Formats: sequence, structure tokens, C-alpha cells
Amino acid sequence: MRIEIREVDETNIEDMISVCNPPTISEAYKKGVEIKRAWLLEMLRTYGDVGFVGYFNGKPAVQLLTYPEKADPTSLKRENVLVVNCIYNPLLEAQRKGIARTMVEKLIEKARGKYEFLVTHAFETGEFLSQAEFFKRLGFREITKEDLYYSFSGRELKEPYSGFWKGGEEYKRNDKDIGKVFLFYEPTCPFTYLWAQRSKEIVKEIAPELEIRMLNGWEHPEEFVSRGRNWMLVNGIPIKSLPIEREKFREELVIAIKT
Ligand SMILES: CC(C)(COP(=O)(O)OP(=O)(O)OC[C@H]1O[C@@H](n2cnc3c(N)ncnc32)[C@H](O)[C@@H]1OP(=O)(O)O)[C@@H](O)C(=O)NCCC(=O)NCCS
Repeated sequence: MRIEIREVDETNIEDMISVCNPPTISEAYKKGVEIKRAWLLEMLRTYGDVGFVGYFNGKPAVQLLTYPEKADPTSLKRENVLVVNCIYNPLLEAQRKGIARTMVEKLIEKARGKYEFLVTHAFETGEFLSQAEFFKRLGFREITKEDLYYSFSGRELKEPYSGFWKGGEEYKRNDKDIGKVFLFYEPTCPFTYLWAQRSKEIVKEIAPELEIRMLNGWEHPEEFVSRGRNWMLVNGIPIKSLPIEREKFREELVIAIKT
């Protein structure tokens, strides 16, 4: 068994991306990957790092994606916060061998002295060990079921979340959003583009007359933040379910269109 952990640089970006690839790669997913690749390069060239890849017997198996909070124009932009976007080890034979733990330990070593806090929105996917359970084991403090942070100084972090994920707040239905659909994706994850694209197709089937705008949240921070960081709005109503939830999603759309 051979385990190697490498920082991501311009030579192994594709390895990082490949860890998350689904078995079937659609055109929309490919487009999401293009967006992520460009974003990774920009992060590397501007800030120098974006996390780690763990290799198991030479194969890229685990990824840990990070960026400085100030890089995210939709966030609170704090200098002393590093965002841990996600960690993922989907390769069964590479699991429970200490790879993910070692990667986070390396991250902690590297970030010490440079940042005061690591913040994560440990979204639950239902796969393997949840990110929240995992980060708790690594000494992160749990704030909500999915929001955790790690403090180097021992101090508390007043607003213990980062930008994107503080979803669904501070939005009041606005006249200018009536009759329109807004879909926001993020450059950090090709799945968000894939979902946005699928959602767009479903809306076109149900209500072809609606105007649809599909936007990169990082490139249109004002549009995104002013809409309460909701990933989808139909007729000025935030949509909570995902297109993979099929009937539930369609039902939610139909109600929003009629409201
Ligand atoms: C969390 C995750 C990264 C852990 O990866 P890993 O390389 O197997 O983890 P490690 O071998 O370093 O184990 C870390 C700790 O978690 C425990 N652990 C790992 N998998 C576990 C499981 N399935 N059940 C219970 N505990 C588990 C280990 O025992 C270890 O505990 P310890 O260090 O306190 O003794 C992996 O389970 C995963 O990818 N989960 C899904 C996360 C996810 O949804 N990410 C977002 C994708 S978009």
C-alpha cells in the first residue's frame, strides 16, 4: 500500500478534479469542470494554494479543497479565515487508511501562523463518513449540524460561517424578480453547474415563457448576495429541493410559478 499526499499545483490540478468525477460525464459536467479548472488556476496564481490531493497506490483518491475567505467576493472577506470547501475520499479501497486525516493535519500545520480560523460548511451528502463527523474528530468546533470551525488561537469566531453557504436569508420577494428564474452556481464544484443546467432544462419544459439567468455566483456577487444567497429563485421564490429529487423539485417549481 502506497500513500502520498501532495499539495495542489499547476501540474496536478486534473488529479484534484478527477477525484470527484461521477461515472457518467455529461456535457454540463464537463462545462462545470472547465469553470473549476479556470478557478483553480486563478486561485493558485493569486494565492499560491488550493489544498491537497491524496494518492493511493499512485491513483488520485482524496481531495481537500481550500481557499482564503477573502478570495470569495460573496463572503465576509476576513483576512484571518481560510475556507475548507470540502474533503472527499470516494475510493473504497483508500478509505479508513488515515489519508483524509493526514491531509487535514498537513493543512493545519501549513495554515498555522497564517490564518486564525479554518471555516467549513460541511454539507451532508449521505455518503461514507459525513464531513461534519470527520471534522469534529479533527478538533473542529460544531456550530450547527453543518457549520464548523477550527480555531488556532482558541478565540471564538463571531460569525462562524463563510459566504456562499449562509443560504436563504435576507431575501424578500422583489418585484424585479417576478417572471424570472435565477440559477446560481459556484466555480468550486462542477456539480453546482450540472444542477443549474438540469434545473434550467426542467424550467424550460414547465414554463418556457420564463426568462432564465444562469450565473456564476463569484462573478456576480451582488446579484447572488442580494438574493439571499439562494441558489435558485423562481418568480422571486427560493427553491429548496434539487433536480435529483425529481417530482418534489417539479412540484416546488410549479407552486413557485403559480404564486
Ligand atoms: C470523511 C472522509 C473524507 C474520510 O476519509 P478517509 O480517508 O476514509 O478518513 P481517514 O481514514 O483519515 O479516517 C479519519 C477518521 O474517520 C474515521 N472514519 C473514516 N471513515 C469512517 C466511516 N465510514 N465510519 C466511521 N468512521 C470512519 C476513521 O476511523 C478515522 O477516525 P480516527 O482518526 O478518529 O481514528 C470520507 O469518509 C468521505 O469522503 N466521506 C464523504 C464526505 C463528503 O460527503 N464530501 C463531500 C463530497 S461532495
